[in-house]
Amino acid sequence: MGWPVMHSRSPTLHNYLFGRYGLSGTYVPLAITPANLDAALRALAPLGFSGCNLTIPHKERALAIVDTVDPVARRIGAISCVIVRPDGSLAGANNDAFGFVHNVLQHQPGWRADEGPLVVIGAGGGARAVVHSLADRGAREIRVINRTFARAEALAREFGPPAAPIAWEERHGALKSAAMLVNTTSQGMVGQPPLDLALETLPQSALVCDIVYVPVDTPLLAAARRRGNRTVDGLGMLLHQARPAWHAWFGLEPEITPELRAVVEATLT
Ligand SMILES: NC(=O)c1ccc[n+]([C@@H]2O[C@H](COP(=O)([O-])OP(=O)(O)OC[C@H]3O[C@@H](n4cnc5c(N)ncnc54)[C@H](OP(=O)(O)O)[C@@H]3O)[C@@H](O)[C@H]2O)c1
Repeated sequence: MGWPVMHSRSPTLHNYLFGRYGLSGTYVPLAITPANLDAALRALAPLGFSGCNLTIPHKERALAIVDTVDPVARRIGAISCVIVRPDGSLAGANNDAFGFVHNVLQHQPGWRADEGPLVVIGAGGGARAVVHSLADRGAREIRVINRTFARAEALAREFGPPAAPIAWEERHGALKSAAMLVNTTSQGMVGQPPLDLALETLPQSALVCDIVYVPVDTPLLAAARRRGNRTVDGLGMLLHQARPAWHAWFGLEPEITPELRAVVEATLT
């Protein structure tokens, strides 16, 4: 469910999985206005849905609608996945943090969050999931940098140490000694300018991630690769979210294969 929703690649992803695992189901995009979110979520059980995913602008409002919210979704402050339980009640979960970490681990199996300072650019919904996942994995220092400093401050205050806010004007120098850089802003997305960030002070050993996945190869990732940094793109974050979602909906955990990635990636070109 989203508003708008037709841009979503989730139907391609989940319908591929229905075929791959031989389940007779289908995943449909549901264009739901904010005013209709409550009624639409309540209709899931009588209509026979196992659940749904939520995207902009419903992730935060759904917290007040579902019957239970898991602790991760509560901490992130957003629901990305709704599960219809056998009694028809609704459980809210957030799989964005899982998707982020497991995508990184698939591409960089030896990655650890406690290897050095981590830099997160952005303080929106994506940033909250990323900061949660990094803190949960044992990060010792997370530098949160956002154009609007008050939002970086609020995020860092809410999550507490290891998260600490840094002013937007100091972003270039704040990459010094970082072990990882993650872009969670919309910059670099199709139709948006590249992220305005000079990589000169970033160590060549740092891992650079983008959660933007349209395009898959963002200007930030291309620039990082050119100077010798390892990179992880944002498409896998979307794909790995299907694992806990399918486990909750259908009791099986799908494998995120190169073929699945290629099927979804083909819709992005
Ligand atoms: N791969 C995945 O599975 C996944 C999951 C979630 C999100 N995403 C992607 O992540 C991106 C952000 O999504 P979101 O939900 O976090 O959005 P959001 O909550 O609206 O946050 C947007 C962020 O971008 C920053 N920003 C916007 N315009 C900017 C500019 N001109 N210069 C610098 N910063 C700017 C905002 O800063 P201010 O606070 O100053 O406005 C804010 O930190 C989107 O491209 C989305 O598709 C991907």
